[in-house]
Amino acid sequence: MKIPLKYPKRKLPPDFNQHVEELTKTADQIEGYLTPQEVRFLCLLGVFQTASGEVLEIGSFKGKSTVILAKSAQLIGEDKIIAVDPLSLPSETDPFVRDSSLVVKDFKQNLKEHNVEHMVEFHQMLSQDLGAKWDRKLRLLWIDGDHTYAGAKLDFDMFSPFLSDGAIIAIHDVLHPHKGPIRVFMEDILLSTKFGPCGVCGSIGWAQYLNDSQKTQSYFDHKIHLYKKLSKLVPHIALNRRFEGFNKVLYKLKRSRVPHESIDIAKWCQAIQTNI
Ligand SMILES: C[S@@+](CC[C@H](N)C(=O)[O-])C[C@H]1O[C@@H](n2cnc3c(N)ncnc32)[C@H](O)[C@@H]1O
Repeated sequence: MKIPLKYPKRKLPPDFNQHVEELTKTADQIEGYLTPQEVRFLCLLGVFQTASGEVLEIGSFKGKSTVILAKSAQLIGEDKIIAVDPLSLPSETDPFVRDSSLVVKDFKQNLKEHNVEHMVEFHQMLSQDLGAKWDRKLRLLWIDGDHTYAGAKLDFDMFSPFLSDGAIIAIHDVLHPHKGPIRVFMEDILLSTKFGPCGVCGSIGWAQYLNDSQKTQSYFDHKIHLYKKLSKLVPHIALNRRFEGFNKVLYKLKRSRVPHESIDIAKWCQAIQTNI
């Protein structure tokens, strides 16, 4: 049964700042790869309903982003989020952990400890297996699974057709030396006429999906500017170049020139709201 919304849609709840503060502390207790800046942004994405539909997480690991998204959904009265991960670290880009059975144990334990077990519809499988039977609209698509090019591209191709008008897509690690996230963000989002407001916060590349391409036109210059900055990083990570020495130093120098500062929440909400 759907729980009625606690706050009007598309508005931040009055206790949002306190929620972010608490969740930043909570997230600290869970092993994972999100910075505090990214945790805060993920809270905003979880709490601010820009469209109707589900919240889907691809790639949960030990549940850091799962807990953040579930608690944020809970704050606005949503009854669940959906997450998919085989928890067996199947991809060559997955975190290095010797015993993946520990990931399963820690994931379940973290959801339980933070009281969100009942909030997470969890699919312990590859995203492509879930994608093969997926038919639900999405308000937020959070991609943090297989970071190879083929893996990230498949996630985008399988799930982005389900983005509702006004929905947000967010891809982790666009500013880390994995081949998938950065290329998918550049090629499939920044070069698409279907996405409007967009940016990078920490290493999260995000954009708003808009059905009406007319509405995205005013964002073209911004998207091309971001594309050009990001494109300078690609040669350093493409074609299996060794990510070390001078190559690594140059990558980091060019990365520092990509705008990826914290989000100004009020401005962000306003930019998103103009299109919905
Ligand atoms: C970087 S971790 C995710 C981190 C997590 N979001 C967090 O906040 O800590 C990547 C995860 O993606 C999962 N993964 C790899 N390939 C996948 C696939 N094809 N479908 C779903 N999950 C996948 C791995 O098992 C791993 O747990």
